[in-house]
Amino acid sequence: MQEITLNAPSAAAKIFVGDDALEKRLPALTTGQKNFVLTDSNVYELYPDLFKKYFDGTEIFVLPAGEENKSFPSLYAILSKMAETGLLRTSRLFAVGGGVIGDIGGLAAALYMRGISCVQIPTTLLAQVDSSVGGKTAVDLGGVKNIVGAFYQPREVLVAPSFLKTLPAREIKCGVGEIVKYAALNGEIFELLENNGDKLDDLAFLTDLIVACIEHKARVVEADEKETGERRSLNVGHTTGHAVELAYGFSHGESVLYGMLLETATAIEKGACEREYGERLLSIVKRALELAPVSTPDFSEIADCAKLAKSDKKNTDENTVKTAVAKRKNEWTIMALPFEEYAEALQKAARERM
Ligand code: NAD
Ligand code: GLY
Repeated sequence: MQEITLNAPSAAAKIFVGDDALEKRLPALTTGQKNFVLTDSNVYELYPDLFKKYFDGTEIFVLPAGEENKSFPSLYAILSKMAETGLLRTSRLFAVGGGVIGDIGGLAAALYMRGISCVQIPTTLLAQVDSSVGGKTAVDLGGVKNIVGAFYQPREVLVAPSFLKTLPAREIKCGVGEIVKYAALNGEIFELLENNGDKLDDLAFLTDLIVACIEHKARVVEADEKETGERRSLNVGHTTGHAVELAYGFSHGESVLYGMLLETATAIEKGACEREYGERLLSIVKRALELAPVSTPDFSEIADCAKLAKSDKKNTDENTVKTAVAKRKNEWTIMALPFEEYAEALQKAARERM
């Protein structure tokens, strides 16, 4: 088991990576206070022994799986159940699942009695490399992703890579979407992916990537917990990705991959990304898109959906779209484009690069 500490200004989080993390940490974490478990219907069905072993007699709230349930009605139902269960300020919430469970569970923990302890147990690759770490919690509202949320650090994150054995190939691809984001920002991860793209079904290789991504994220969040500077880099591919997610219905990780493809191609054209580095990054993105392939989406109307990027939280005026893009190895920048220019550039990138 490897241990990574994230010393955020608001609170410290301990992150443990290894298949023995649950065995080693859960007995102590579940003892001494009233607990509450949040999971989703798929995880609950797949891992009955886990819930029996560590959470027998604990209230377990099973949310139907799916992004559509990262919603206010679900949050209300979870908080109501927490109150009904008689949780106290000393209680602890365990979020066992993918990014949906981690995001809504983290927010419920942040809100209940103004904040109770939260332990994240991420079960998807996306949640293990990214969403369970760093304290971003949220629900979607009115068709806008993550528009209501809080920064709230989990007390611990227990990452057991063996959960990935039951994860469908398309969900692995979603996690790779976030790993490619880290590759865009971190030369070491870039090289790991560029040289070992055929090893993405190897659990040992994935574990190395998980540790490398968490270490990168921990350092960024320590420097800029509330995303006023450096943390904006972690949105590479996300501005366009969120628009693709809403307009075309792809899952988060796949949408990030399409977002990275379109934004990187645009950044090369606009001179915001060095061409040689950008083309290598595009090869990594394309290779990731070929994992669990789906038929190439019809992005001929992408310029229309670009308006969804206007509501991105990074934008400060409604006529400019700001995207975080890789500039060269280990360097990133904000590319600010007038909305019309951004929409046209996406259309061109979709025509020429897909
Ligand atoms: P998800 O939670 O919907 O999980 C994907 C699917 O995998 C679900 O059907 C789930 O039931 C299933 N699943 C989970 N674990 C499994 C396992 N071990 N075996 C088999 N199936 C399993 O989605 P996700 O991709 O994990 O996360 C996406 C969400 O994360 C989005 O809402 C996104 O906005 C959010 N996110 C948050 C952050 C953050 O920093 N907080 C970062 C990135 C993404
Ligand atoms: N997923 C982006 C962040 O945590 O900042």
